[in-house]
Amino acid sequence: MQINDVVSIETLDNIALICLNNPPVNVASQALRVGIQKAVSQANVDAEIAVIAIYAAGRTFVAGADIKEFGKPPLDPMLPDLINEIEESAKPVITVLHGTALGGGLEIALGAHLRVGLNGLKLGLPEIHLGLLPGAGGTQRTPRLIGIPAAIEIILSGRHLEANEALGLGLLDRLSDESPREAAITAAKDVLSGTINPRRTDEIEVKPDHAHLDEMEAKLVQTHSHLVSPHKCVEAVRASTLPVNEGLKVERQAFFESMNTPQRAGLIHAFFGERAVSKVSEFKSTPREVAQVGVIGGGTMGSGIATACLLAGLRVILVETTEEALGRGIATIHKNLEGALKRGKLAQDRFDATKAALKGELQLTALDNVDLAIEAVFENMDVKKDIFGQLDKICEPGVILASNTSYLDLDEIAATTSRPEDVIGLHFFSPAHVMRLLEIVVGAKTDESVIATGFALAKRLRKIGVKSGVCDGFIGNRILAHYRKTAAYLVLDGASPQEVDRALEEFGFAMGPHKVGDLAGLDIDWMTRQRKAATRPEEERYSGHVADRICENGWFGRKSGKGYYLYESANMLPNPEVETIVAEEREKAGITPKPIAAADIVDRYMTAMISEAVRTLEDKIAARPLDIDMVLLFGYGFPRHLGGPMHYADTIGAKELINRIKTYAKEDSYYWRVPGLLRQMADDGTTFADMNR
Ligand code: 3HC
Repeated sequence: MQINDVVSIETLDNIALICLNNPPVNVASQALRVGIQKAVSQANVDAEIAVIAIYAAGRTFVAGADIKEFGKPPLDPMLPDLINEIEESAKPVITVLHGTALGGGLEIALGAHLRVGLNGLKLGLPEIHLGLLPGAGGTQRTPRLIGIPAAIEIILSGRHLEANEALGLGLLDRLSDESPREAAITAAKDVLSGTINPRRTDEIEVKPDHAHLDEMEAKLVQTHSHLVSPHKCVEAVRASTLPVNEGLKVERQAFFESMNTPQRAGLIHAFFGERAVSKVSEFKSTPREVAQVGVIGGGTMGSGIATACLLAGLRVILVETTEEALGRGIATIHKNLEGALKRGKLAQDRFDATKAALKGELQLTALDNVDLAIEAVFENMDVKKDIFGQLDKICEPGVILASNTSYLDLDEIAATTSRPEDVIGLHFFSPAHVMRLLEIVVGAKTDESVIATGFALAKRLRKIGVKSGVCDGFIGNRILAHYRKTAAYLVLDGASPQEVDRALEEFGFAMGPHKVGDLAGLDIDWMTRQRKAATRPEEERYSGHVADRICENGWFGRKSGKGYYLYESANMLPNPEVETIVAEEREKAGITPKPIAAADIVDRYMTAMISEAVRTLEDKIAARPLDIDMVLLFGYGFPRHLGGPMHYADTIGAKELINRIKTYAKEDSYYWRVPGLLRQMADDGTTFADMNR
């Protein structure tokens, strides 16, 4: 019998089988909650029924509360109340979990009296990734079942546990390889026969372990001082030693406090952005088949791209020009694969086959049978044109020819072929087998099916594919090139590189821009500045004075032991010689250094980033603000809890951003210009979020 659109109940002898069917992932939407509530209470009043079993149809049990409801007025019945009702059910309630039982989904099961896990089940409490904590009893019932240390580890990591581990810990009572419905019937019969005993979780006492929680809290202060919800998780788990009703009150309060933070909004924007980013019009075209990939160039990028493809189960032919370079490339790929094996990203039984799926060749003609060729040689237009000219002749029509260029004009490269419609940019980020971002650069003539293949490849490689138009640097490097200048100007005007780094790290970046520069290699930007020297507008204030001097000394950052910092010892100390260079360059430019507050550093840096991001939208290089957010989040270390620069910009507002730009423009009216789109937004009240809809 159908209770409502998403919940049905069936009676089998004296068993009530409640089936949840809310595709795609059975979220605990209001309809699902209403349905469960009605079904459980109906089963309770039915004198024939002795035991109740809840299972789900489709690919998964409940994957969590409905995130779309967050930030809106609460809808009854609230999930915690429903779970309390389940726990208080006079008749035992069994839950059968398959697929993913996450967050509120697992919390429903924790409130039930018996938990059965099916093959392949993953379960966990991932709320922390959304800036929240388990808010439907998870912080109270998990410690009751598995103790405080294991519970806090699961809650703070938000990780997915395998069913076996959950059984070992005591989160599950049994495993089954039956179907969800069959497993529900079996467990119900076992309850009826007394083979297995259901019990109420709230009746279990928690062994206090304040010392462990103190230790966790101390660690969080070191590592996550700027985030709210991890601290709230500890606070709520600490309350699990109280009587359950009191503990649940503490959890509720902590949940609402986390819910009302901009961090929660930022993290949820990131969650949905990650999923929306691949929804572009071309995605409707059918992707072309890709089973074998040719990678041209065995340097860091080429080897990383080859590794990513191999890890995704693709066959790869790596082409280099000399035996030596080919050997180096293959060795790097093997090392990458071994690393993946160690980190558990590649199963031992797949290791040999994955290695064997790689072939090395010295001639481009070896790529006559690939489905996709990715060129990853150094950034030189003539070399790339030559390669594409050759590939055009070697590869069959329909084979996709991709360039990993990070700034060169893709249309110029495509024009050297007879089939620019098959040409696309696949801009990976280093290390390519680790970094999640893939810019899918669409040329003027790129075919829709080729774009769709780019997105399909991104998904297969478990990357976040973002569509970008053609311009110098595409979305990410174009915006980076602009805001990085702010960091240089700040140093010239009075801040030390360390002050700039510290301010931005406190704001949320994992590393400040000078540390990032040292890590990436300062020579890369040096070459870019040289490349662009001839076309640099006269009005532009030069940003490379200090960095050029550093590079002229042969200090390219971490790889040469020196950059903005010294890398000779384990402690990263500021390079004192940079201080001298900075002082000399200020003097040469006639600048009297002034102290710059951390807040001012952050405001200028972020305003510069947002300004260029807006221009990228105006120029239609990025289609939507969320595309920019995902590029910065997944390729440039933008703090996830701020959602991305466009989401963050909405929290500031167009009017305030314009005020800031106008203030800064008094010092440099060329660099600080108000983008037209921002003006328009201030006039009509539009937000970037509106443009994502
Ligand atoms: N709320 C609303 N929508 C959700 C959702 C949720 N909890 N979980 C997934 N969805 C949506 C996705 O946005 C997507 O929608 P779309 O098709 O329109 O893009 C659709 O469901 C399918 O999701 P995925 O594309 O992610 O499917 P996958 O198969 O790749 O992954 C999953 C499935 C592992 C369940 C993944 O969706 C996931 O991790 N979901 C979030 C789980 C989670 O964080 N749960 C905790 C929620 S907070 C909570 O429960 C609070 C409680 O303590 C009170």
